[in-house]
Amino acid sequence: MAGRHLKEIFKAFQTRDELTFRRVAMEIIDEEEAKHHNALARDLKRLLVAGGAPLDTGSTIIVPAPPKDREGDWDLGEVTEPTRLLDDLILDPRLVGTLDSLVEEVRQWSTLDAAGIPRRQRLLLEGPPGCGKTTAAEALATELGRPFLLVRLDAVVSSYLGETASNLRRILDYADQAPFVVLFDEFDALGRSRDDQAEHGEMKRVVTAFLQMTDRYRGPSLLLAATNHSELLDQALWRRFDEVLTFRKPNVHELRRLLRLRLRHVSHHGLNIDLIASKLKGLPHAAAEKLVVDARRQAILRGSHTVEAVDINAVLLGVTGRPW
Ligand SMILES: Nc1ncnc2c1ncn2[C@@H]1O[C@H](COP(=O)(O)OP(=O)(O)OP(=O)(O)O)[C@@H](O)[C@H]1O
Ligand SMILES: [Mg+2]
Repeated sequence: MAGRHLKEIFKAFQTRDELTFRRVAMEIIDEEEAKHHNALARDLKRLLVAGGAPLDTGSTIIVPAPPKDREGDWDLGEVTEPTRLLDDLILDPRLVGTLDSLVEEVRQWSTLDAAGIPRRQRLLLEGPPGCGKTTAAEALATELGRPFLLVRLDAVVSSYLGETASNLRRILDYADQAPFVVLFDEFDALGRSRDDQAEHGEMKRVVTAFLQMTDRYRGPSLLLAATNHSELLDQALWRRFDEVLTFRKPNVHELRRLLRLRLRHVSHHGLNIDLIASKLKGLPHAAAEKLVVDARRQAILRGSHTVEAVDINAVLLGVTGRPW
């Protein structure tokens, strides 16, 4: 470990600066990985992810508060300690491959920089609701051992373009201070009450501002944007993201795997998983997850800790019949 790292990490401890601590810790891990000290790097990473005090609660270590809008009325984002893992998701194998390769790539940004190869740093996550965009973004943060900064676009967007830009600037300045995974979630939350034409214009305006402002961003954070209305973006805008990750609804086989995954630690008896999966055909992953949660609640309310077919049947129509 370089003396510079030692000094920085001691200083971060002294000033209770968790973000710097994490940045240096990640640099140390990257360095160990580069030396092929893989077991040590893995252990350090585990300690960093699992052992860290919660970022946003009353620990003695202080994370700078996320930025607020100009009047200081509301937070533009929220920092959390990520807990979801990529293994927790059932995704198209190609998407899993891309996510895995991105994790590896982010860890080696300094190597890419040295070789003059551009980083993939600005990604668009697109696909229907409830298919894992927000969860996958959080999982990337967990895998990378980074804090997760969730930015709600409706908090950032102001009716004045100048104000939207300055809110984005505030977030990017904050994301410059430490290696976050930043998710600009729900681009589609914009102008919902307006007619399609106005919504299209609004969305394009904000995405263009986002792309312009992040064009030269070479800070330590990974920037993600999520939408379930990618049809509102034209090709020219799509191409400006370094990568577009497409999430899609699960097929019956994937629904089956997801049901098994969510029932893995749940006591259950006599369930026909194939049949349940076929009844959920066409619905998003979130529906399968909700079915399991609702059935568990149902079982507990009738005084049992074991989920049975009767519990599934009692909640199935509620899940399949609601809009997703
Ligand atoms: N591919 C998946 N595998 C396993 N669980 C999933 C998957 N996608 C979604 N879920 C579950 O469904 C819930 C909602 O998922 P998430 O919020 O990530 O969806 P989203 O794509 O961001 O939806 P939206 O477009 O509405 O924001 C989560 O609790 C998550 O665990
Ligand atoms: Mg989401």
